[in-house]
Amino acid sequence: MQNLASLNHLSYPFSCPLKEGILWTSKQRQMHSLHYAISYRGAFKPELPDFFIQNYLHSSQKDAVVLDPFGGRGTTSLQANLLGFRAIHNDPNPLSVFIAKTRGNVPSQEKLMQRVHLLDLNRKVIICEKDKKRLSPFFHKKTLQEVSSIRRILKSNMKQNDPELNYIGLTALSRLHGHSDGFFSVYSFPQISIMPSVQRKNNLRLNQSPQYKEVKARIIRKMKTDLSSPFPEYFHQVSAKNLYFQQDARSISNLPRNSVDLIVTSPPFLDKINYRQDNWMRFWFLGLEEELEKKDLAMISDLKEWSYFMKDVMLEMGRLLKPKCFAIIEVGEVNVGKTHYNLDESLVKMFPMKVEGGYLQAHEVLINRQNFTKLSNCWKVQNNKKGTNTNRCLILQKLTCA
Ligand SMILES: C[S@@+](CC[C@H](N)C(=O)[O-])C[C@H]1O[C@@H](n2cnc3c(N)ncnc32)[C@H](O)[C@@H]1O
Repeated sequence: MQNLASLNHLSYPFSCPLKEGILWTSKQRQMHSLHYAISYRGAFKPELPDFFIQNYLHSSQKDAVVLDPFGGRGTTSLQANLLGFRAIHNDPNPLSVFIAKTRGNVPSQEKLMQRVHLLDLNRKVIICEKDKKRLSPFFHKKTLQEVSSIRRILKSNMKQNDPELNYIGLTALSRLHGHSDGFFSVYSFPQISIMPSVQRKNNLRLNQSPQYKEVKARIIRKMKTDLSSPFPEYFHQVSAKNLYFQQDARSISNLPRNSVDLIVTSPPFLDKINYRQDNWMRFWFLGLEEELEKKDLAMISDLKEWSYFMKDVMLEMGRLLKPKCFAIIEVGEVNVGKTHYNLDESLVKMFPMKVEGGYLQAHEVLINRQNFTKLSNCWKVQNNKKGTNTNRCLILQKLTCA
């Protein structure tokens, strides 16, 4: 564990200290295998919540609750559970809540294997013309039948909410499209569902057409990998107490004031990611397209507007935090056109901030430098040249008025 006192102090034109160091390793896939069960745009490395949970909570705080108001794939909640703490996951994106909830209720590998073997994926499913048209650039006809069979089974599971089917569904979701033989699709992008017209062009360019990929075998292989790390014996007991909400981070009205012990989160950065478009196939697979239409996911390209949005978010965080407790907001750095923004600088000016039950104070800003970008190679982004190269984390503390 990095000793925070040993970090380099940098000059910062604001009233709180700025420190920089290597807070966690830049090596990939070092944490529990379940963290890597599915990719998610904008996800942070599990090392980030691990670092802050271990620094700001003590293992003796058995009932402590960790909140992520912009939960994404649930990295914070999973890591909190792995460290023995309860978690609250919030995200208006129904895909996010499906992923996080499913990973909070993991059946045994043995049961999952038995269940997959029993699934009948050979029953013919009628696929509408619209779906045939948009999915055929990605899948062989027979693969599409098998994928649609799983989709039908998941749909019929909506009411029962069977954890085994949910977990199998999550694994299938993670295998839909990508660039290795482990995916169901022809060579495609793993993190983004590209548009069918783009996939068609790529197929022509690469002289490729979708080949049959047996779905069950690929699910089984992936499940074995994702469940290869052992779970601490308390994991299932703790994760069973998690809460999941689909609210706007500016008002998580289901939660009472002074109810959380730590917040570790990362909001959307100035419209870098279009969560709707980038996930269209995943929404189709889970039957969530209609539900998504009703959701308001932040897509803000203007810094001033983003700061207003974040001010409301931080007021809500202040309401929810218990006195003396901390919130960590990872904001990174972004380039919009030719302008470079360190987003923490837009936030840190707002403190101290009066909140319900006290005030929030900027405690410090910590920078973890990484020598690679968050974006994968398939984006043709060169290391350290574009994208987010550092994690800039603003640490806030709630204090009560004297
Ligand atoms: C940068 S991602 C968080 C990723 C997460 N840290 C992880 O590791 O998966 C931001 C998330 O904010 C969600 N989001 C967008 N608008 C929101 C809002 N108004 N309130 C709460 N969450 C929102 C998006 O759906 C997305 O999942």
